[in-house]
Amino acid sequence: MMNKYNDSRIEFCFLAEPTDVNFGGKVHGGMVMKWIDQASYACAAKWSKRYSVTVSANGIRFIRPILVGQMVSVSAQIVHTGRSSMHIYVVVRARDPKENSTVITNRCFITFMATDESGYAVKVPEFTPESEEEKMLEQVAMHAKDFAKQLDQDFDDKLGWK
Ligand SMILES: CC(C)(COP(=O)(O)OP(=O)(O)OC[C@H]1O[C@@H](n2cnc3c(N)ncnc32)[C@H](O)[C@@H]1OP(=O)(O)O)[C@@H](O)C(=O)NCCC(=O)NCCS
Repeated sequence: MMNKYNDSRIEFCFLAEPTDVNFGGKVHGGMVMKWIDQASYACAAKWSKRYSVTVSANGIRFIRPILVGQMVSVSAQIVHTGRSSMHIYVVVRARDPKENSTVITNRCFITFMATDESGYAVKVPEFTPESEEEKMLEQVAMHAKDFAKQLDQDFDDKLGWK
């Protein structure tokens, strides 16, 4: 049986290493995006029990830099499911392990699609938000999805780019 709380969330914790940072000593934006993609893949696979592919990353925000030596946590949670899609909220936090204060450095919504062995979309178990916060997160994720789909439509309609 599916344990909603445990199966819908995941958290990665690790230290930002010297190989993760740029010349200014701050973690590369691309590295943060990789961590977000990895944590949300693990979250999607855990929920669907399927191999899943990234469909769209909607609204990645870089709020504060992450510095080398900081402790990083990447938390991913399912906020909405469609037929084959899983919409995931990801928040990245960083802290100096010698201090108590933690800052939110990044947040985004990211959508994965569960696939079968041939790469075709498969149905995923339905996620039902329960708390007020989960219901709000679902609403915001749906706005982000509508915006991203409108962007696809605009590229097609206005520029002729598929
Ligand atoms: C992912 C892929 C298979 C989707 O193909 P597609 O024909 O666009 O699929 P659909 O339009 O049917 O969309 C699939 C699901 O994603 C959702 N979706 C599509 N665009 C979206 C967007 N911008 N934001 C959020 N969700 C979106 C759809 O609503 C649909 O959900 P549902 O099954 O719950 O109804 C295809 O775009 C692809 O192969 N992309 C490359 C994937 C990849 O290489 N990822 C990185 C490595 S894993």
